[in-house]
Amino acid sequence: MGGARAAGWVAAGLALGAGAGFCLYRLARGPRRSKRGLRSSESAEDLTNGSYDDILNAEQLQKLLYLLESTEDPVITERALVTLGNSAAFSGNQAIIRELGGIPVVGNKINSPNHSIKEKALNALNNLSVNVENQVKIKVFVHQVCEDVMSGPLDSAVQLAGLRLLTNMTVTNEHQHMLSGYAADLFRVLLTGNGTTKVQVLKLLVNLSENPAMTEGLLTAQVDSSFLSLFDGHTAQEILLRVLTLFQNINNCLRRGGLLAIRPPLPTGSLFSLLYGEDCVQKMKALVYHHDVEVREKVLTVIPGF
Ligand SMILES: *[C@@H]1O[C@H](CO)[C@@H](O)[C@H](O)[C@H]1NC(C)=O
Ligand SMILES: *[C@@H]1O[C@H](CO)[C@@H](O)[C@H](O)[C@H]1NC(C)=O
Ligand SMILES: *[C@@H]1O[C@H](CO)[C@@H](O)[C@H](O)[C@H]1NC(C)=O
Ligand SMILES: *[C@@H]1O[C@H](CO)[C@@H](O)[C@H](O)[C@H]1NC(C)=O
Ligand SMILES: *[C@@H]1O[C@H](CO)[C@@H](O)[C@H](O)[C@H]1NC(C)=O
Ligand SMILES: *[C@@H]1O[C@H](CO)[C@@H](O)[C@H](O)[C@H]1NC(C)=O
Repeated sequence: MGGARAAGWVAAGLALGAGAGFCLYRLARGPRRSKRGLRSSESAEDLTNGSYDDILNAEQLQKLLYLLESTEDPVITERALVTLGNSAAFSGNQAIIRELGGIPVVGNKINSPNHSIKEKALNALNNLSVNVENQVKIKVFVHQVCEDVMSGPLDSAVQLAGLRLLTNMTVTNEHQHMLSGYAADLFRVLLTGNGTTKVQVLKLLVNLSENPAMTEGLLTAQVDSSFLSLFDGHTAQEILLRVLTLFQNINNCLRRGGLLAIRPPLPTGSLFSLLYGEDCVQKMKALVYHHDVEVREKVLTVIPGF
């Protein structure tokens, strides 16, 4: 990086948040290098308020991580997390942040009692999780994220952010087994959450349902019978289509494993007993006449499984 820009950033770091009246943070190790003519307010705001239009370089990212580790101020913590999260939208930065040891620094912030900070940390991890090598580092936080999602306030921003992260951590089969103990909880959140939450839980469940290794855990999960109301004709299309896809994926896994032919005993109260019970058959038959063509087509791909 050029000397002028480096000096500008150091000045920015020193005066981070100064425009809003926060304490000054001495980011630069060693003597202050700022030069005359650098107005500390301009770049300080630029870096943490999202208007900085350049991709942050490694040195800048390191300083942000150092700031995140050292500050006690919740507002600065939150802004540093948002800036890191935004910068992680660039694939190059996803690797740099990992190489700088940044994933645990960001990840530890999910333990913050402050839900606003927790949410921003989850969002930043979500952007970092697009990288497969990063997922290996993020997986140590998956258990905590699951606990937060299942116990967190229903439909809260934290719960949604956690669900999004779990969804992106299950885009491949690699880490899905970490969620196997949470199937019943996920269905509970699905059935109690509002539309936004339902869609996000279903994205996650649909991903899990494509993996034959997850099929038994899903089918034996205890699920409230209100699950079947999701197959009602008036269910929102984005929910209904995903529920049908879930069913289709489970059917496919069962068929491939030959289990559908065997017809194992139906454990009462399980997802299996709901999906393959008479009530569901009736609902599927009714959906053949649904007004939405996508729904009708999807139903027809599932029905041969009966
Ligand atoms: C961020 O800071 C810059 C420079 O101070 C300012 O011009 C811009 O309006 C700010 N943007 C937001 C979204 O606050
Ligand atoms: C949580 O953090 C936000 C800033 O991110 C801050 O405004 C708020 O005061 C904090 N809440 C508590 C209880 O510390
Ligand atoms: C994450 O990345 C997306 C683009 O992929 C971006 O819109 C978003 O602002 C980024 N930041 C956070 C904190 O999620
Ligand atoms: C999460 O994964 C989805 C699907 O792969 C992708 O489109 C999205 O960009 C990811 N979200 C973030 C925040 O990276
Ligand atoms: C679900 O609840 C959250 C938080 O109250 C809200 O922001 C969101 O709009 C709600 N979604 C729907 C579909 O009602
Ligand atoms: C998970 O879902 C995303 C889209 O939501 C999809 O791109 C991805 O292939 C799915 N992964 C698995 C393993 O099902």
